[in-house]
Amino acid sequence: MKKATCFSDRHYSIGRIDDKMYSSFTEHLGRCIYSGIYEPGHPAADEDGFRMDVMDLVKELNVPVLRYPGGNFVSCYDWHDGIGPKENRPKRMDYAWTSIETNEFGIDEFCKWAKKAGVEPMIAVNLGTGSIKDAGDLVEYCNHPGGTYWSDLRAKNGSPEPYNIKYWCLGNEMEGSWQAGHLSAEDYTKKAVEAAKIMRWVDPSIKLVACGSSYDMLPTYLEWDRVMLTDLYNEVDYLSTHNYTMNAGQGTANYEASYKQLDEHIKNSKTVIEYVKAKNHFQKDLKICLDEWNVWNFQDIKMNSLADLQGMTTFEMTSAGRWETAPSILQEKYSLLDAVVVGGLGITLLNNADSVEIACLAQLINVIAPITTVRGGGVYRQAIYHPFHMLSKYGRGIAMKAVVEAPTYSSNYGELNVVEPAVVYNEESREVRIFVLNCDENEDVELAINLQGYGDLKVKKHLTLCGENPEIINTIDEPENVTMKEVEVKAEKSVVLPKLSWNVVVLGK
Ligand code: AHR
Repeated sequence: MKKATCFSDRHYSIGRIDDKMYSSFTEHLGRCIYSGIYEPGHPAADEDGFRMDVMDLVKELNVPVLRYPGGNFVSCYDWHDGIGPKENRPKRMDYAWTSIETNEFGIDEFCKWAKKAGVEPMIAVNLGTGSIKDAGDLVEYCNHPGGTYWSDLRAKNGSPEPYNIKYWCLGNEMEGSWQAGHLSAEDYTKKAVEAAKIMRWVDPSIKLVACGSSYDMLPTYLEWDRVMLTDLYNEVDYLSTHNYTMNAGQGTANYEASYKQLDEHIKNSKTVIEYVKAKNHFQKDLKICLDEWNVWNFQDIKMNSLADLQGMTTFEMTSAGRWETAPSILQEKYSLLDAVVVGGLGITLLNNADSVEIACLAQLINVIAPITTVRGGGVYRQAIYHPFHMLSKYGRGIAMKAVVEAPTYSSNYGELNVVEPAVVYNEESREVRIFVLNCDENEDVELAINLQGYGDLKVKKHLTLCGENPEIINTIDEPENVTMKEVEVKAEKSVVLPKLSWNVVVLGK
Protein backbone atom coordinates (compact mmCIF):
# COMPACT_ATOMS: atom_id res chain seq x y z
CA MET A 1 0.00 0.00 0.00
CA LYS A 2 1.28 3.50 -0.79
CA LYS A 3 1.80 5.91 2.09
CA ALA A 4 1.23 9.66 2.33
CA THR A 5 0.98 12.34 5.01
CA CYS A 6 -1.26 15.40 5.19
CA PHE A 7 -0.01 18.25 7.40
CA SER A 8 -2.08 21.20 8.61
CA ASP A 9 -1.34 23.85 11.22
CA ARG A 10 -4.09 25.91 12.92
CA HIS A 11 -2.00 29.06 12.38
CA TYR A 12 -2.03 28.80 8.58
CA SER A 13 -5.37 29.42 6.97
CA ILE A 14 -6.47 30.22 3.42
CA GLY A 15 -9.63 32.07 4.39
CA ARG A 16 -13.18 31.77 5.63
CA ILE A 17 -15.37 29.68 3.35
CA ASP A 18 -18.39 31.73 2.38
CA ASP A 19 -21.63 29.74 2.66
CA LYS A 20 -22.38 30.87 -0.90
CA MET A 21 -19.71 28.40 -2.03
CA TYR A 22 -22.49 25.77 -2.10
CA SER A 23 -24.86 27.64 -4.40
CA SER A 24 -26.48 26.30 -7.54
CA PHE A 25 -28.27 27.27 -10.73
CA THR A 26 -31.67 26.72 -12.36
CA GLU A 27 -32.19 27.72 -15.98
CA HIS A 28 -35.19 27.61 -18.27
CA LEU A 29 -33.53 24.77 -20.12
CA GLY A 30 -34.90 21.32 -20.87
CA ARG A 31 -36.70 19.93 -17.82
CA CYS A 32 -34.96 21.97 -15.13
CA ILE A 33 -37.98 24.18 -14.40
CA TYR A 34 -40.85 22.41 -16.15
CA SER A 35 -41.26 18.90 -14.66
CA GLY A 36 -38.19 19.63 -12.52
CA ILE A 37 -39.11 22.08 -9.80
CA TYR A 38 -42.56 22.88 -11.24
CA GLU A 39 -45.07 20.24 -12.31
CA PRO A 40 -48.70 21.11 -11.55
CA GLY A 41 -50.85 18.00 -11.22
CA HIS A 42 -47.95 15.83 -10.07
CA PRO A 43 -48.93 13.79 -6.98
CA ALA A 44 -46.10 15.43 -5.00
CA ALA A 45 -46.91 18.99 -6.17
CA ASP A 46 -48.25 21.58 -3.73
CA GLU A 47 -50.97 24.16 -4.46
CA ASP A 48 -48.44 26.21 -6.52
CA GLY A 49 -47.38 23.25 -8.63
CA PHE A 50 -43.99 22.96 -6.88
CA ARG A 51 -42.77 19.39 -6.51
CA MET A 52 -42.23 18.78 -2.81
CA ASP A 53 -40.23 15.60 -3.40
CA VAL A 54 -37.71 17.73 -5.32
CA MET A 55 -37.79 20.50 -2.75
CA ASP A 56 -36.94 18.01 0.01
CA LEU A 57 -33.72 17.06 -1.79
CA VAL A 58 -32.87 20.72 -2.47
CA LYS A 59 -33.30 21.40 1.25
CA GLU A 60 -31.09 18.43 2.09
CA LEU A 61 -28.34 20.00 -0.05
CA ASN A 62 -28.69 23.26 1.94
CA VAL A 63 -28.13 25.44 -1.13
CA PRO A 64 -27.79 29.09 -0.03
CA VAL A 65 -28.12 30.96 -3.35
CA LEU A 66 -29.75 29.93 -6.61
CA ARG A 67 -28.98 31.61 -9.93
CA TYR A 68 -31.92 32.07 -12.34
CA PRO A 69 -33.22 32.17 -15.18
CA GLY A 70 -30.05 31.46 -17.24
CA GLY A 71 -27.55 30.77 -18.65
CA ASN A 72 -27.81 31.15 -22.40
CA PHE A 73 -31.58 31.34 -22.02
CA VAL A 74 -31.45 34.74 -20.36
CA SER A 75 -29.99 36.40 -23.44
CA CYS A 76 -33.18 35.61 -25.39
CA TYR A 77 -35.57 36.21 -22.50
CA ASP A 78 -38.01 39.04 -21.90
CA TRP A 79 -38.92 38.86 -18.20
CA HIS A 80 -42.21 40.69 -18.85
CA ASP A 81 -43.47 37.53 -20.63
CA GLY A 82 -43.40 35.63 -17.33
CA ILE A 83 -45.64 37.85 -15.17
CA GLY A 84 -49.39 38.32 -14.77
CA PRO A 85 -52.24 35.88 -15.42
CA LYS A 86 -50.82 32.65 -16.83
CA GLU A 87 -53.46 32.39 -19.56
CA ASN A 88 -52.21 35.69 -21.03
CA ARG A 89 -48.54 34.79 -21.09
CA PRO A 90 -47.06 34.34 -24.58
CA LYS A 91 -45.43 31.17 -25.88
CA ARG A 92 -42.06 32.08 -27.36
CA MET A 93 -39.27 30.49 -29.33
CA ASP A 94 -36.24 30.15 -27.08
CA TYR A 95 -33.33 30.47 -29.51
CA ALA A 96 -30.71 29.34 -27.00
CA TRP A 97 -32.04 25.80 -26.66
CA THR A 98 -34.32 25.61 -29.75
CA SER A 99 -37.26 25.03 -27.41
CA ILE A 100 -40.69 26.52 -26.80
CA GLU A 101 -40.94 28.63 -23.64
CA THR A 102 -44.51 28.67 -22.30
CA ASN A 103 -43.75 31.32 -19.67
CA GLU A 104 -46.00 29.57 -17.16
CA PHE A 105 -43.17 30.01 -14.70
CA GLY A 106 -41.60 33.45 -14.26
CA ILE A 107 -39.94 35.69 -11.70
CA ASP A 108 -42.89 35.64 -9.25
CA GLU A 109 -43.08 31.84 -9.29
CA PHE A 110 -39.32 31.61 -8.88
CA CYS A 111 -39.27 33.93 -5.87
CA LYS A 112 -42.16 32.05 -4.28
CA TRP A 113 -40.42 28.72 -4.84
CA ALA A 114 -37.11 30.11 -3.50
CA LYS A 115 -38.82 31.31 -0.32
CA LYS A 116 -40.39 27.90 0.27
CA ALA A 117 -37.09 26.15 -0.44
CA GLY A 118 -35.14 28.54 1.82
CA VAL A 119 -32.76 29.70 -0.93
CA GLU A 120 -31.74 33.23 -1.88
CA PRO A 121 -32.31 34.17 -5.54
CA MET A 122 -29.50 35.49 -7.74
CA ILE A 123 -31.02 36.95 -10.89
CA ALA A 124 -29.29 37.36 -14.25
CA VAL A 125 -30.48 40.21 -16.49
CA ASN A 126 -30.55 40.00 -20.27
CA LEU A 127 -27.70 42.11 -21.65
CA GLY A 128 -27.77 40.27 -25.00
CA THR A 129 -31.10 41.03 -26.70
CA GLY A 130 -32.44 42.94 -23.68
CA SER A 131 -32.12 46.64 -22.94
CA ILE A 132 -30.63 48.39 -19.94
CA LYS A 133 -34.11 49.81 -19.24
CA ASP A 134 -35.51 46.25 -19.03
CA ALA A 135 -32.83 45.50 -16.44
CA GLY A 136 -33.71 48.57 -14.37
CA ASP A 137 -37.43 47.76 -14.62
CA LEU A 138 -36.79 44.24 -13.35
CA VAL A 139 -34.95 45.57 -10.28
CA GLU A 140 -37.89 47.95 -9.71
CA TYR A 141 -40.38 45.10 -10.10
CA CYS A 142 -38.49 42.92 -7.61
CA ASN A 143 -37.09 45.33 -5.06
CA HIS A 144 -38.99 48.63 -4.97
CA PRO A 145 -41.48 48.71 -2.06
CA GLY A 146 -44.40 50.29 -3.99
CA GLY A 147 -45.96 53.40 -5.49
CA THR A 148 -44.44 52.98 -8.97
CA TYR A 149 -45.69 51.21 -12.07
CA TRP A 150 -43.57 48.05 -11.82
CA SER A 151 -43.63 47.70 -8.02
CA ASP A 152 -47.42 48.16 -7.95
CA LEU A 153 -47.75 45.56 -10.70
CA ARG A 154 -45.78 43.10 -8.55
CA ALA A 155 -48.25 43.76 -5.72
CA LYS A 156 -51.18 43.31 -8.11
CA ASN A 157 -49.62 40.02 -9.25
CA GLY A 158 -49.75 38.74 -5.68
CA SER A 159 -46.58 39.95 -3.92
CA PRO A 160 -47.08 43.22 -2.03
CA GLU A 161 -43.76 42.75 -0.22
CA PRO A 162 -40.64 43.39 -2.31
CA TYR A 163 -38.38 40.40 -2.95
CA ASN A 164 -35.25 42.40 -2.03
CA ILE A 165 -33.04 40.41 -4.35
CA LYS A 166 -29.43 41.15 -3.51
CA TYR A 167 -27.35 39.39 -6.19
CA TRP A 168 -27.64 40.38 -9.87
CA CYS A 169 -25.62 39.09 -12.83
CA LEU A 170 -24.94 41.51 -15.68
CA GLY A 171 -25.63 39.09 -18.52
CA ASN A 172 -24.32 35.61 -19.23
CA GLU A 173 -21.27 34.43 -21.22
CA MET A 174 -21.40 37.56 -23.37
CA GLU A 175 -17.96 36.67 -24.82
CA GLY A 176 -19.34 33.71 -26.83
CA SER A 177 -20.75 33.73 -30.35
CA TRP A 178 -23.37 31.21 -29.15
CA GLN A 179 -24.88 33.93 -26.98
CA ALA A 180 -27.90 35.80 -28.43
CA GLY A 181 -26.77 39.41 -28.72
CA HIS A 182 -23.09 38.46 -28.20
CA LEU A 183 -20.93 41.58 -27.79
CA SER A 184 -17.27 42.52 -28.01
CA ALA A 185 -15.57 43.28 -24.69
CA GLU A 186 -15.75 47.01 -25.45
CA ASP A 187 -19.46 46.94 -26.33
CA TYR A 188 -20.32 44.74 -23.36
CA THR A 189 -18.46 47.12 -21.06
CA LYS A 190 -20.42 50.15 -22.29
CA LYS A 191 -23.72 48.35 -21.91
CA ALA A 192 -22.90 46.82 -18.53
CA VAL A 193 -21.67 50.13 -17.07
CA GLU A 194 -24.97 51.78 -18.03
CA ALA A 195 -27.07 48.83 -16.83
CA ALA A 196 -25.22 48.82 -13.50
CA LYS A 197 -25.82 52.56 -13.13
CA ILE A 198 -29.56 52.28 -13.70
CA MET A 199 -29.95 49.16 -11.57
CA ARG A 200 -28.16 50.84 -8.67
CA TRP A 201 -30.22 54.00 -9.10
CA VAL A 202 -33.29 51.82 -8.51
CA ASP A 203 -31.73 49.95 -5.58
CA PRO A 204 -28.28 51.07 -4.32
CA SER A 205 -28.00 48.05 -2.01
CA ILE A 206 -27.71 45.41 -4.73
CA LYS A 207 -24.52 43.42 -5.44
CA LEU A 208 -23.50 43.13 -9.08
CA VAL A 209 -21.65 40.38 -10.91
CA ALA A 210 -19.70 41.34 -14.07
CA CYS A 211 -19.65 38.78 -16.85
CA GLY A 212 -16.04 37.65 -17.22
CA SER A 213 -14.54 35.27 -19.73
CA SER A 214 -14.79 31.50 -19.29
CA TYR A 215 -13.48 29.61 -22.30
CA ASP A 216 -9.73 29.49 -22.80
CA MET A 217 -10.06 28.35 -26.44
CA LEU A 218 -11.52 31.75 -27.36
CA PRO A 219 -8.98 34.36 -28.45
CA THR A 220 -10.60 36.86 -26.07
CA TYR A 221 -10.00 34.72 -22.94
CA LEU A 222 -8.79 36.98 -20.07
CA GLU A 223 -8.19 39.90 -22.43
CA TRP A 224 -11.98 40.31 -22.27
CA ASP A 225 -11.74 40.63 -18.46
CA ARG A 226 -8.85 43.10 -18.65
CA VAL A 227 -10.73 45.39 -21.05
CA MET A 228 -14.04 45.08 -19.25
CA LEU A 229 -12.76 45.43 -15.68
CA THR A 230 -10.76 48.53 -16.50
CA ASP A 231 -14.09 50.41 -16.71
CA LEU A 232 -16.34 48.15 -14.65
CA TYR A 233 -14.13 47.25 -11.67
CA ASN A 234 -15.50 49.92 -9.36
CA GLU A 235 -19.09 49.40 -10.47
CA VAL A 236 -19.35 45.72 -9.54
CA ASP A 237 -18.78 43.37 -6.62
CA TYR A 238 -17.83 40.12 -8.35
CA LEU A 239 -16.22 38.81 -11.51
CA SER A 240 -18.08 35.85 -12.98
CA THR A 241 -16.44 32.93 -14.71
CA HIS A 242 -17.68 29.47 -15.70
CA ASN A 243 -15.80 26.19 -15.84
CA TYR A 244 -16.93 22.80 -17.04
CA THR A 245 -14.84 19.65 -16.86
CA MET A 246 -15.23 17.02 -19.55
CA ASN A 247 -14.29 13.36 -19.71
CA ALA A 248 -13.02 13.56 -23.29
CA GLY A 249 -10.96 10.39 -23.52
CA GLN A 250 -7.96 11.85 -21.68
CA GLY A 251 -7.69 8.71 -19.50
CA THR A 252 -8.86 8.21 -15.92
CA ALA A 253 -5.77 9.68 -14.26
CA ASN A 254 -5.93 12.88 -16.30
CA TYR A 255 -9.67 13.13 -15.82
CA GLU A 256 -9.20 12.81 -12.05
CA ALA A 257 -6.58 15.53 -12.21
CA SER A 258 -9.26 17.97 -13.45
CA TYR A 259 -9.17 19.59 -10.01
CA LYS A 260 -5.88 21.07 -11.21
CA GLN A 261 -7.45 22.47 -14.37
CA LEU A 262 -10.13 24.24 -12.29
CA ASP A 263 -7.40 25.53 -9.98
CA GLU A 264 -5.56 27.08 -12.93
CA HIS A 265 -8.82 28.53 -14.25
CA ILE A 266 -9.65 30.24 -10.95
CA LYS A 267 -6.10 31.53 -10.57
CA ASN A 268 -6.23 32.99 -14.10
CA SER A 269 -9.33 35.02 -13.18
CA LYS A 270 -7.68 36.04 -9.92
CA THR A 271 -4.55 37.16 -11.78
CA VAL A 272 -6.47 39.42 -14.15
CA ILE A 273 -8.37 40.96 -11.20
CA GLU A 274 -5.08 41.69 -9.46
CA TYR A 275 -3.53 43.07 -12.66
CA VAL A 276 -6.40 45.51 -13.28
CA LYS A 277 -6.43 46.52 -9.63
CA ALA A 278 -2.68 47.23 -9.57
CA LYS A 279 -2.53 48.89 -12.99
CA ASN A 280 -5.33 51.32 -12.16
CA HIS A 281 -4.50 51.81 -8.47
CA PHE A 282 -7.95 50.57 -7.48
CA GLN A 283 -8.49 50.07 -3.76
CA LYS A 284 -11.14 47.46 -3.22
CA ASP A 285 -10.88 43.71 -3.76
CA LEU A 286 -13.09 41.87 -6.20
CA LYS A 287 -14.16 38.31 -5.49
CA ILE A 288 -14.84 35.57 -8.01
CA CYS A 289 -18.34 34.31 -8.63
CA LEU A 290 -17.86 30.92 -10.29
CA ASP A 291 -21.52 30.87 -11.20
CA GLU A 292 -21.36 27.71 -13.31
CA TRP A 293 -19.14 24.70 -12.55
CA ASN A 294 -19.57 20.98 -12.95
CA VAL A 295 -18.61 17.93 -14.96
CA TRP A 296 -20.43 18.10 -18.30
CA ASN A 297 -19.76 15.30 -20.76
CA PHE A 298 -21.94 16.74 -23.55
CA GLN A 299 -23.80 13.44 -23.87
CA ASP A 300 -26.42 14.93 -26.20
CA ILE A 301 -24.60 17.74 -27.93
CA LYS A 302 -22.58 17.13 -31.05
CA MET A 303 -19.22 18.11 -29.64
CA ASN A 304 -15.99 16.18 -29.16
CA SER A 305 -14.37 18.57 -26.76
CA LEU A 306 -14.94 21.99 -25.28
CA ALA A 307 -12.65 23.40 -27.99
CA ASP A 308 -15.50 22.77 -30.45
CA LEU A 309 -17.33 25.68 -28.83
CA GLN A 310 -15.16 28.06 -30.83
CA GLY A 311 -17.13 29.39 -33.78
CA MET A 312 -20.42 27.87 -32.65
CA THR A 313 -23.40 30.14 -32.94
CA THR A 314 -25.77 27.77 -31.18
CA PHE A 315 -25.62 24.60 -29.16
CA GLU A 316 -26.47 21.86 -31.67
CA MET A 317 -28.78 19.74 -29.64
CA THR A 318 -30.26 16.38 -30.44
CA SER A 319 -33.56 18.28 -30.14
CA ALA A 320 -32.46 21.04 -32.55
CA GLY A 321 -35.14 22.10 -35.00
CA ARG A 322 -37.91 20.36 -33.10
CA TRP A 323 -39.02 23.35 -31.02
CA GLU A 324 -40.36 21.20 -28.18
CA THR A 325 -41.60 22.40 -24.81
CA ALA A 326 -39.30 21.31 -21.97
CA PRO A 327 -37.43 18.70 -24.04
CA SER A 328 -35.37 16.06 -22.23
CA ILE A 329 -32.02 17.62 -23.09
CA LEU A 330 -28.70 17.84 -21.24
CA GLN A 331 -29.89 15.06 -18.95
CA GLU A 332 -26.41 13.80 -18.20
CA LYS A 333 -26.09 10.45 -16.50
CA TYR A 334 -23.28 10.74 -14.00
CA SER A 335 -21.01 7.84 -13.11
CA LEU A 336 -19.10 7.07 -9.93
CA LEU A 337 -15.98 8.36 -11.69
CA ASP A 338 -17.74 11.65 -12.55
CA ALA A 339 -18.74 11.95 -8.89
CA VAL A 340 -15.15 11.44 -7.73
CA VAL A 341 -14.08 14.17 -10.18
CA VAL A 342 -16.82 16.53 -8.91
CA GLY A 343 -15.52 15.89 -5.38
CA GLY A 344 -12.04 16.84 -6.61
CA LEU A 345 -13.39 20.07 -8.09
CA GLY A 346 -14.92 20.81 -4.68
CA ILE A 347 -11.47 20.39 -3.12
CA THR A 348 -10.19 23.06 -5.51
CA LEU A 349 -13.01 25.42 -4.53
CA LEU A 350 -12.06 25.09 -0.86
CA ASN A 351 -8.38 25.62 -1.59
CA ASN A 352 -9.34 28.87 -3.37
CA ALA A 353 -11.70 30.14 -0.66
CA ASP A 354 -9.68 33.36 -0.47
CA SER A 355 -10.76 34.38 -3.98
CA VAL A 356 -13.99 32.46 -4.70
CA GLU A 357 -16.94 33.76 -2.69
CA ILE A 358 -19.83 32.38 -4.74
CA ALA A 359 -19.82 29.09 -6.62
CA CYS A 360 -22.90 27.61 -8.33
CA LEU A 361 -23.03 23.94 -9.23
CA ALA A 362 -24.59 24.00 -12.71
CA GLN A 363 -27.26 23.00 -12.64
CA LEU A 364 -29.59 21.74 -9.88
CA ILE A 365 -32.35 19.64 -11.44
CA ASN A 366 -32.45 17.39 -14.54
CA VAL A 367 -30.04 19.49 -16.61
CA ILE A 368 -26.38 18.52 -15.92
CA ALA A 369 -27.65 18.08 -12.39
CA PRO A 370 -27.38 16.18 -9.10
CA ILE A 371 -31.17 15.67 -8.92
CA THR A 372 -33.17 13.87 -11.62
CA THR A 373 -36.95 13.63 -11.86
CA VAL A 374 -39.26 11.45 -13.90
CA ARG A 375 -42.13 13.41 -15.45
CA GLY A 376 -45.19 12.35 -13.44
CA GLY A 377 -42.98 9.96 -11.48
CA GLY A 378 -40.25 9.82 -8.87
CA VAL A 379 -37.00 11.60 -8.16
CA TYR A 380 -33.49 10.32 -7.44
CA ARG A 381 -30.03 11.44 -6.50
CA GLN A 382 -27.43 11.24 -9.28
CA ALA A 383 -23.91 10.10 -8.33
CA ILE A 384 -22.64 13.72 -8.21
CA TYR A 385 -25.28 14.57 -5.61
CA HIS A 386 -23.20 12.85 -2.95
CA PRO A 387 -19.92 14.81 -3.08
CA PHE A 388 -21.84 18.09 -3.39
CA HIS A 389 -23.97 17.14 -0.37
CA MET A 390 -20.89 16.24 1.68
CA LEU A 391 -19.12 19.47 0.74
CA SER A 392 -22.17 21.51 1.72
CA LYS A 393 -22.56 19.56 4.98
CA TYR A 394 -18.94 19.36 6.15
CA GLY A 395 -17.26 22.15 4.18
CA ARG A 396 -18.33 25.10 6.31
CA GLY A 397 -15.78 27.02 8.35
CA ILE A 398 -12.20 28.09 7.62
CA ALA A 399 -10.21 26.65 4.72
CA MET A 400 -6.81 25.71 6.08
CA LYS A 401 -3.52 25.32 4.23
CA ALA A 402 -2.66 21.69 3.67
CA VAL A 403 0.74 20.28 2.78
CA VAL A 404 1.13 16.76 1.45
CA GLU A 405 4.03 14.34 1.28
CA ALA A 406 3.02 11.62 -1.14
CA PRO A 407 4.10 9.53 -4.11
CA THR A 408 3.44 11.31 -7.39
CA TYR A 409 2.08 10.45 -10.84
CA SER A 410 2.42 12.06 -14.26
CA SER A 411 -0.60 13.90 -15.61
CA ASN A 412 -1.45 16.41 -18.32
CA TYR A 413 -0.95 19.01 -15.59
CA GLY A 414 2.55 17.82 -14.68
CA GLU A 415 3.71 15.66 -11.79
CA LEU A 416 0.96 15.51 -9.15
CA ASN A 417 0.63 13.96 -5.69
CA VAL A 418 -1.57 10.85 -5.72
CA VAL A 419 -3.55 12.39 -2.89
CA GLU A 420 -5.08 15.87 -3.05
CA PRO A 421 -6.62 17.28 0.14
CA ALA A 422 -8.58 20.29 1.34
CA VAL A 423 -8.68 20.90 5.09
CA VAL A 424 -11.55 22.73 6.80
CA TYR A 425 -11.62 23.83 10.43
CA ASN A 426 -15.11 24.22 11.87
CA GLU A 427 -14.82 26.45 14.94
CA GLU A 428 -18.28 25.61 16.32
CA SER A 429 -17.75 21.87 16.48
CA ARG A 430 -13.94 22.21 16.84
CA GLU A 431 -13.64 19.59 14.16
CA VAL A 432 -11.18 19.32 11.33
CA ARG A 433 -12.79 17.95 8.18
CA ILE A 434 -10.49 16.68 5.46
CA PHE A 435 -11.72 16.15 1.91
CA VAL A 436 -9.22 14.05 0.02
CA LEU A 437 -8.84 12.37 -3.36
CA ASN A 438 -6.86 9.21 -3.94
CA CYS A 439 -6.03 9.48 -7.65
CA ASP A 440 -4.25 6.13 -7.76
CA GLU A 441 -6.34 3.82 -9.94
CA ASN A 442 -4.76 0.62 -8.66
CA GLU A 443 -3.62 1.06 -5.08
CA ASP A 444 -5.05 2.14 -1.74
CA VAL A 445 -3.09 4.84 0.08
CA GLU A 446 -2.53 4.99 3.82
CA LEU A 447 -2.86 8.67 4.76
CA ALA A 448 -1.28 9.79 8.02
CA ILE A 449 -2.85 12.98 9.39
CA ASN A 450 -0.47 15.35 11.11
CA LEU A 451 -2.31 18.27 12.72
CA GLN A 452 -0.67 21.02 14.77
CA GLY A 453 -2.41 23.55 17.05
CA TYR A 454 -5.93 22.09 16.97
CA GLY A 455 -5.69 20.15 20.24
CA ASP A 456 -5.56 16.37 20.31
CA LEU A 457 -8.02 15.43 17.56
CA LYS A 458 -8.76 11.88 16.51
CA VAL A 459 -10.42 10.41 13.44
CA LYS A 460 -14.14 10.12 14.26
CA LYS A 461 -15.65 9.41 10.89
CA HIS A 462 -14.49 8.36 7.45
CA LEU A 463 -16.85 8.44 4.46
CA THR A 464 -15.74 7.34 1.03
CA LEU A 465 -16.95 7.43 -2.55
CA CYS A 466 -15.39 4.47 -4.36
CA GLY A 467 -16.24 1.16 -6.03
CA GLU A 468 -15.03 -1.58 -8.34
CA ASN A 469 -16.87 -0.18 -11.37
CA PRO A 470 -16.13 3.53 -11.98
CA GLU A 471 -18.74 3.62 -14.78
CA ILE A 472 -21.67 2.63 -12.56
CA ILE A 473 -24.56 5.13 -12.42
CA ASN A 474 -27.69 5.66 -10.33
CA THR A 475 -31.10 5.24 -11.97
CA ILE A 476 -34.69 5.63 -10.83
CA ASP A 477 -34.82 1.86 -10.29
CA GLU A 478 -31.35 1.56 -8.75
CA PRO A 479 -30.89 4.90 -6.99
CA GLU A 480 -28.25 3.71 -4.52
CA ASN A 481 -25.63 2.21 -6.80
CA VAL A 482 -23.44 5.20 -5.96
CA THR A 483 -23.59 6.59 -2.42
CA MET A 484 -21.14 7.62 0.29
CA LYS A 485 -20.00 4.56 2.28
CA GLU A 486 -18.98 4.75 5.93
CA VAL A 487 -15.58 3.15 6.59
CA GLU A 488 -14.84 1.61 9.97
CA VAL A 489 -12.39 3.83 11.85
CA LYS A 490 -9.39 1.73 12.86
CA ALA A 491 -6.75 4.32 13.76
CA GLU A 492 -6.77 7.70 15.52
CA LYS A 493 -4.39 9.55 13.21
CA SER A 494 -4.59 7.81 9.87
CA VAL A 495 -7.05 6.44 7.32
CA VAL A 496 -6.80 4.14 4.34
CA LEU A 497 -8.02 5.82 1.17
CA PRO A 498 -9.39 3.23 -1.28
CA LYS A 499 -7.99 3.29 -4.82
CA LEU A 500 -9.69 5.87 -7.05
CA SER A 501 -11.74 7.45 -4.28
CA TRP A 502 -12.97 10.73 -2.85
CA ASN A 503 -13.14 10.86 0.95
CA VAL A 504 -14.40 12.90 3.88
CA VAL A 505 -12.49 12.42 7.14
CA VAL A 506 -13.80 14.10 10.31
CA LEU A 507 -11.45 14.59 13.25
CA GLY A 508 -12.68 15.70 16.68
CA LYS A 509 -12.01 15.32 20.41
O1 AHR B 1 -25.41 25.37 -17.97
C1 AHR B 1 -25.61 25.17 -19.34
C2 AHR B 1 -25.08 26.32 -20.18
O2 AHR B 1 -23.70 26.36 -20.09
C3 AHR B 1 -25.52 27.70 -19.74
O3 AHR B 1 -26.75 28.03 -20.28
C4 AHR B 1 -24.43 28.56 -20.30
O4 AHR B 1 -24.21 29.71 -19.52
C5 AHR B 1 -23.21 27.66 -20.38
O5 AHR B 1 -22.67 27.67 -21.64
